[in-house]
Amino acid sequence: MKVAVIGAGTMGSGIAQAFAQTEGYDVILTDITLELAQKGQQRIAKGLQSRVERGKLDQAVADQINGRIKVGLLADCADRDLIVEAVLEEISIKKETFKQLDAIVGPDCILASNTSSLSITEMAQGLNHHLVGMHFFNPAPVMKLVEIIPGLSTPQEVVDKVTAIATELGKTPVQVKEAAGFVVNRILVPLVNEGIAIYADGLASAEGIDTAMKLGANHPMGPLELGDLIGLDVCLAIMEVLQKETGEDKYRPHPLLRKMVRGGKLGRKTGEGFYKYS
Ligand code: 3HC
Repeated sequence: MKVAVIGAGTMGSGIAQAFAQTEGYDVILTDITLELAQKGQQRIAKGLQSRVERGKLDQAVADQINGRIKVGLLADCADRDLIVEAVLEEISIKKETFKQLDAIVGPDCILASNTSSLSITEMAQGLNHHLVGMHFFNPAPVMKLVEIIPGLSTPQEVVDKVTAIATELGKTPVQVKEAAGFVVNRILVPLVNEGIAIYADGLASAEGIDTAMKLGANHPMGPLELGDLIGLDVCLAIMEVLQKETGEDKYRPHPLLRKMVRGGKLGRKTGEGFYKYS
């Protein structure tokens, strides 16, 4: 199957790798410039090489995965069967991306969005192609869940098709009705926001809060290290959508979350969030 992933950031490159790990998938990873797409491709190659060096992956398998990923631009996606969009979490940018793809891809191509909280129905407005939500989780090559989100006009056959594809990738798809944050982010991102509130209140250190949730609730990561992994800008965007769509104050982004984003401390991707990364 010929797939393209639009946006070569953390999620986009992770999703491209998730496809390329499965035989029979050929992936084009795109971004607004070829250089950005190549950066994503290099990130994947570096991650695979590190697993080879740690004896976790055969060099031949790493070479196969790398060999299934090419880089390109939107114009190179004309022959794709499935496109997964993972651009910035802004509805206007996503709509513009789909508008361009709509004019490029063949009639049977399925368009999918990896949006973490936005409306599939709104993104699908005015398109000739079917659109569906296909929401992966960070780190996408590892995390087993894919939320499948039909919009108002997504046909069942498209839902069935992407559900089968997610299963083929070794993931477990869960169908979710369209609503802000779907299932996981509606629970998980307010948890990160609450961890930030506890930190801002000075109840414990960042390490203390994270250790408490790892050992006291068996979470694989504490809320602050999770916020750094997801990206604090992404957490802020999701909280804003949850608050706007529901009108509920319990989703108010904590002022410290806003301050960190304004200060460019977005987590792992900028080298600093609640922790520093080399
Ligand atoms: N890319 C590829 N593989 C990765 C990776 C990455 N970024 N990070 C970790 N891995 C792999 C490792 O290579 C390792 O596999 P290996 O042993 O075969 O080499 C395996 O994952 C486990 O990694 P580690 O041994 O380094 O560390 P852990 O056992 O602590 O697991 C973790 C790391 C999987 C990230 C785990 O800490 C975890 O599950 N954390 C919670 C992640 C989470 O909640 N994600 C959801 C975020 S919300 C989201 O994404 C939605 C979005 O819309 C915001």
